[in-house]
Amino acid sequence: MTLRSHITGWGKYVPPNVLTNDDLTHMVDTSDEWIRTRTGIEERRIADDDETTSSMAIQAAQEALEVADLKPSDLDLIVVATVTPDHPFPATACLVQDTLGARGAAAFDISAGCTGFIYALTLAHHTLQSGAYENALVIGAETLSRITDWNDRSTCVLFGDGAGAVILQADEAEGGVLSTTLGTDGSGARLLYVPAGGSQIPSSHESVAERQHYLRMRGREVFRFAARIMPTATRDVLEKADLTLEDLKLIIPHQANQRIIDSSAKLLDLPSETIFSNLSAYGNTSAASIPIALCEAVEEGRIQRDDLVVCVGFGAGLTWGATAIRWSTPRPEAPPSSVEKFWHSLRYRYAAARSLLRRFVRWLLSLGVNE
Ligand code: COA
Repeated sequence: MTLRSHITGWGKYVPPNVLTNDDLTHMVDTSDEWIRTRTGIEERRIADDDETTSSMAIQAAQEALEVADLKPSDLDLIVVATVTPDHPFPATACLVQDTLGARGAAAFDISAGCTGFIYALTLAHHTLQSGAYENALVIGAETLSRITDWNDRSTCVLFGDGAGAVILQADEAEGGVLSTTLGTDGSGARLLYVPAGGSQIPSSHESVAERQHYLRMRGREVFRFAARIMPTATRDVLEKADLTLEDLKLIIPHQANQRIIDSSAKLLDLPSETIFSNLSAYGNTSAASIPIALCEAVEEGRIQRDDLVVCVGFGAGLTWGATAIRWSTPRPEAPPSSVEKFWHSLRYRYAAARSLLRRFVRWLLSLGVNE
């Protein structure tokens, strides 16, 4: 029996709050023209004060569960790829597990920069293929606006917030995830990083005053790395699946810079329509960018059953990775009915009540311990 893993559900969430290039010109010395020509970005979404990485991840996950027609209690595994978790620990995935009411699921985060979603998908794929688990929820979610230095024009124009999720299910049917490739070059760790807040430079008044808890990037070096690695990883993953660029329907790349996407299309000798881009609307949402783009590509009908899709990412670490997927799930014919929506909301209310009860019982028990 050969087990394969199939994407059977997908969902995304982006905050309603839009920050345009023009808005940024009131914050730093920049222009719409500079941002558009150097990056391809026109606007990005910024989380409201009450939104967090977990709250956005949960919205995307709920949508993905609906598409897959799966109950949260059916999930065995939840992996959240993020560099902006709600807390240093516990994992954001644990907060997602609790709110969804995914009672039987193992849950943890993966930190692999903008490649995080590909790392998480690869890990979930191999776990499902091994037969250990049947149903996995893989999320990429980021609140990059919280680690962006809004005084630094070279970085603050690039990033945005959002979340994307997929449901991965084990099945013997042909197709699904065909091959994967991952890589790392830690010698480039400080090309894109947050200097403080970890064990090397713990948070202090000084680290905050020096703005060391914000993201720092050497843009040109990262650009060179990304433009080289995206075509290499794409070719590599296709080769592993015994396929060629001619078999390909669509590439879903990490959305970092339109110039990186265009130069990869050129190096791969592919028409630009073969590489999906929604960068202009969301900017770089790090680990969330590939699942958000994948979701939109499916919603727009750019991916149909049996199409070959390559998802390819690169980013902080330096890390890179790609997955080749034979798409096996058609789009749902109709959105969930109001009755279905009601049942789903009831399920999440039950999960919230259950969580509250567990906290209450824990509090009661702690009273007993203190006596
Ligand atoms: N508005 C106006 N001018 C800006 C600017 C902004 N937002 N940001 C930088 N500049 C200026 C610089 O100060 C510099 O001015 P100078 O020549 O007077 O010193 C000039 O523009 C060129 O800066 P440079 O950094 O060389 O620009 P670039 O062409 O390399 O573009 C990036 C900068 C960040 C857009 C580009 O390097 C890039 O996209 N890198 C990859 C980033 C990325 O994708 N990171 C995530 C990977 S996961």
